[in-house]
Amino acid sequence: MPRQAQNSRISLTLINLLLLLCIEVKAQAGHLADDEVSALREIADQLGKRNWNFKVDPCTSNNQSWPTTQVNSNQPFNYNNTLICDCNLTNDGVCHVVQIFLKAQGLAGILPPALAKLHHLKIINLNDNYLSGNIPEEWASMQLEHLSISTNNLSGPIPPYLGKITTLKILSIEGNQFSGTVPPALGNLFYLESLILSANNLTGELPATLINLTKLIEFRISSNNFTGRIPDFFQTWKQLQKLEIQASGLEGPIPPSISALSTLTELRISDLFGEGSKFPSLHGMTNMSRLDLSFNKLEGNVPDLGGLARLDYTFLTSNLLTGNIPEWIKNSTSNIDISYNNFSKSSAPASLCRDGLNLFKSSSSKDDLELLECLDESPCSQDLSSLHINCGGKETTVGRIKYEGDEDPAGPTKYFHVKPNWGFSNTGHFWDIDNTPNDYLANNVSVLTMENFQLYTRARLSPLSITYYARCLVNGNYTVKLHFAEILFKSTISSYSLGRRIFDVYIQEKLALKDFNIENEAQGFDKAIIKNFTAVVTNKVLMIRFHWAGKGTTTTPNRGIYGPLVSAISVESDRSPPVDGKIVVGVIVSVLLLIFMILGILWWKGCIGGRISREKGHGFTTKREFDELVDPELGSEFIKKRHYND
Ligand SMILES: *[C@@H]1O[C@H](CO)[C@@H](O)[C@H](O)[C@H]1NC(C)=O
Ligand SMILES: *[C@@H]1O[C@H](CO)[C@@H](O)[C@H](O)[C@H]1NC(C)=O
Ligand SMILES: *[C@@H]1O[C@H](CO)[C@@H](O)[C@H](O)[C@H]1NC(C)=O
Ligand SMILES: *[C@@H]1O[C@H](CO)[C@@H](O)[C@H](O)[C@H]1NC(C)=O
Ligand SMILES: *[C@@H]1O[C@H](CO)[C@@H](O)[C@H](O)[C@H]1NC(C)=O
Ligand SMILES: *[C@@H]1O[C@H](CO)[C@@H](O)[C@H](O)[C@H]1NC(C)=O
Ligand SMILES: *[C@@H]1O[C@H](CO)[C@@H](O)[C@H](O)[C@H]1NC(C)=O
Ligand SMILES: *[C@@H]1O[C@H](CO)[C@@H](O)[C@H](O)[C@H]1NC(C)=O
Ligand SMILES: *[C@@H]1O[C@H](CO)[C@@H](O)[C@H](O)[C@H]1NC(C)=O
Ligand SMILES: *[C@@H]1O[C@H](CO)[C@@H](O)[C@H](O)[C@H]1NC(C)=O
Ligand SMILES: *[C@@H]1O[C@H](CO)[C@@H](O)[C@H](O)[C@H]1NC(C)=O
Ligand SMILES: *[C@@H]1O[C@H](CO)[C@@H](O)[C@H](O)[C@H]1NC(C)=O
Repeated sequence: MPRQAQNSRISLTLINLLLLLCIEVKAQAGHLADDEVSALREIADQLGKRNWNFKVDPCTSNNQSWPTTQVNSNQPFNYNNTLICDCNLTNDGVCHVVQIFLKAQGLAGILPPALAKLHHLKIINLNDNYLSGNIPEEWASMQLEHLSISTNNLSGPIPPYLGKITTLKILSIEGNQFSGTVPPALGNLFYLESLILSANNLTGELPATLINLTKLIEFRISSNNFTGRIPDFFQTWKQLQKLEIQASGLEGPIPPSISALSTLTELRISDLFGEGSKFPSLHGMTNMSRLDLSFNKLEGNVPDLGGLARLDYTFLTSNLLTGNIPEWIKNSTSNIDISYNNFSKSSAPASLCRDGLNLFKSSSSKDDLELLECLDESPCSQDLSSLHINCGGKETTVGRIKYEGDEDPAGPTKYFHVKPNWGFSNTGHFWDIDNTPNDYLANNVSVLTMENFQLYTRARLSPLSITYYARCLVNGNYTVKLHFAEILFKSTISSYSLGRRIFDVYIQEKLALKDFNIENEAQGFDKAIIKNFTAVVTNKVLMIRFHWAGKGTTTTPNRGIYGPLVSAISVESDRSPPVDGKIVVGVIVSVLLLIFMILGILWWKGCIGGRISREKGHGFTTKREFDELVDPELGSEFIKKRHYND
C-alpha cells in the first residue's frame, strides 16, 4: 500500500474514532427532544430572540445551559440568558427543557404560546424585557411552578385561566399595564407562595377566594387602583412573611386580624384611603425587621414594639399619632422615623438631632420649629432673599447664579443641615436591595445635552420623603423653581424605558404637584422640565417636600429604583433681582469704584459739587448687598470666595 493511502486510512480511522467518541459524549449527555427543539424555534420567533444557536444541542453543554453568543459585553446587571435541561427525567437519553431565564434582553415580541409545547417546563422568567400582549391561553395547560413576567409592556386583564396552572408557587406580573379585576380563579392556586401584582392598573375589589391561598409567603399589590377595604385574609395566611400594600387604592382601616401574622418579617402598608385606624397590634411578630406604616392616618398612641428585637427600620411618617413619644423609640438604636405626627412636644428626647431618629415635625404644636434646634441655634445674622441648590450635585455656577452643592449621602432617617441657612430631612429605605450610601444620589445613565446640563447630571433621590428647608429668608413672596430631568431611565427598547416614576411635591405644606411624572411632563427622558411656583414666607422659613406616595414602578430598570428625584431648586424673593447677591455686589463694587474715581477726579478738578449722594444708593436692592459693601469683612469674604472658586 502506498504510504499516502496508508496515511489516509489511519486518518480515517482516527476520524471514525473521534466521531464515535463524540457520539458517546452526546449519548452520555443526552440530547434535547426533537419536538422541543422545534418548539424552541417557535418560541424564539415569538419572543423576538435571535441569538439562540440551533447548530448545537441546547442540552449538551457541560453545565446544561445553552451557550449563546453575548450580544454585547455591557449587559444590564440583571441580564440572565439561561436554559436548563434535565436529561434524567426519562431514561432514554432524551433531555427536556425544565427552566428558562431570559431576563433583561430587550426582547420586544410577545409571550410565546409555543412555551406550552415544552411539557416539562417548570420555571419561566422573562422579567425586564419589552414583551407586549397578554398571557396566552395555551399556557393554562402547563405545569409551571414559577412564572415571572415582571417589567414588560403586557396589558389587558389577568386571564382567569391562570387559575388552571395549579402547580404555581410563584406568580409575578409586577410592573406591567395589566388592568381590570383580579379573577377569583386565582384562589385556586393552592400552592402559591408568592403573588406579586404591584405596579399595574388593576381595579375593583380583591376576590374573596384569595383567602384560600394558605401557603402564601409573599403578597404584594402596591401601586394599583383597587377599591374597597383591605380584605380580612389574614386569619388563614399563617405563613406570610412579606406583605406590601402601598398606594394600592384600598381603604383603611387595617384589619385587626393582621396581628395573627406572627411570621411577618416585612410589613409595608401605606397611603391607605378612607378612614384612619388605630395602630395595629404587632407584638407577636418577633421576626419583623422592616416596618412601614407611613401616610395612613393612624391615630392614638404607638404601642411598645421594643420587644421586636430584629426591627431595624421603622417608618411611621405622616400619621396622626399622639401621646408621648414612647421610651422604646427614644432608646432604640435602629432607624426610626416618626416625622410629621402629632406627638406631645414635651416628650421629645433631649437630643432632637441624632442620626437614626427623625423627629422632624413630629409634633404639631404651634411653636414647632424644632428644626431650629438641629440647626445653628444662633439667630439669623442676616436674612437672605434667594437660595439656589444643585440637589445631589456639587456647587456649580449657571450664568451668574451660584447653585450650592448638596452631596451629603443622606440616609434612611436623616435630619441634616447642609449650611446654617438650609438643609433637609430625609426618610425612607430602598426596599428589596442592599442599600448603599449612594442610593440617595442619582447619576445620569445617558450623556446629557440639555441647557445647563450640570444641574441635571446628578440629582437627589429619596425612597420615601425628603424635605428641603431654608431659614433666615426675608419674609414675603417668592418664586420657587424646581428643576427635574429623568436621568435614570432611557428610551431604548428595553426595560429601561418602562420605568414610571411618580411622586408628589408640597411647598409650604401645600400640595404643589400630584402624581408628578418627570418623563411625561418633559416629554421624554434626559429632558429638563422646570416647574415654577409662588410661595409665601411668613416666618422666614420655606419648606419644599418631595414625597413618594407608593406609585409607579420600583423594579425598573433595576430593583430599588423609585422615589422622588429632583435636580435643582431655585428660590428667589419677588423683591430681589434674579441673580446671586455676591456676584452682583462684585460688579456694583467695581462700577461704583470707577464712578467714585471719576467723580473724585472731576471733584478734584473742581468740575462738580453735590451729585454723589444721588448716585450712591442706586443698585442696592437687598440688605445683603448693602451690608457687603459697607462691611469690610464681608467684602473680604467675598474676595476670598471668588479667589477660591477660580
Ligand atoms: C455554562 O456554560 C456556558 C457556555 O459554555 C458558560 O458561558 C457558563 O460560564 C457556564 N456556567 C457555569 C456555571 O459553568
Ligand atoms: C440566572 O438565573 C438562575 C436562576 O436564578 C441562576 O441560577 C443563574 O446563576 C443565573 N445566571 C446568571 C448568569 O446570572
Ligand atoms: C442522571 O442519571 C445518571 C445515571 O442514571 C447519573 O449518573 C447522573 O448523576 C444523573 N444526573 C443528574 C443531574 O441527576
Ligand atoms: C406596548 O403595548 C401597547 C398595548 O398593547 C402597544 O400598543 C405598544 O405597541 C407596545 N409597545 C411596543 C414597543 O411594543
Ligand atoms: C390605567 O387606567 C386608567 C383608567 O382606566 C387610564 O386612564 C390609565 O391610562 C391607565 N394607566 C396605565 C398605566 O395603563
Ligand atoms: C376555599 O376553598 C374551599 C375548598 O376548596 C371552598 O369550599 C371555598 O369555597 C373556598 N373559599 C372561597 C372564599 O372561595
Ligand atoms: C385610578 O383610577 C382613577 C379613576 O378611576 C384614575 O383617575 C387614575 O388615573 C387611576 N390611577 C392609575 C394609577 O391608573
Ligand atoms: C423566626 O425566624 C426563624 C429563622 O430565622 C424561624 O426559625 C422562626 O420560626 C421564626 N419565627 C416565627 C414566629 O416566624
Ligand atoms: C430607656 O432608657 C432609660 C435610660 O437609659 C431607662 O431608664 C429606661 O428604662 C429605658 N426604657 C426602655 C423602655 O427601655
Ligand atoms: C394634635 O393634637 C392636639 C392635641 O394634642 C390637637 O388639638 C390637634 O388638633 C392635633 N392636630 C392634628 C393635626 O391632628
Ligand atoms: C404676595 O402676593 C400677593 C398676591 O399674590 C399679594 O396680595 C401680597 O401683597 C404679596 N405680599 C408681599 C409681601 O409682597
Ligand atoms: C419657569 O421658569 C423657567 C426658567 O426661568 C422658564 O424657562 C419657564 O418658561 C417657566 N415656566 C413657566 C410655565 O412659566
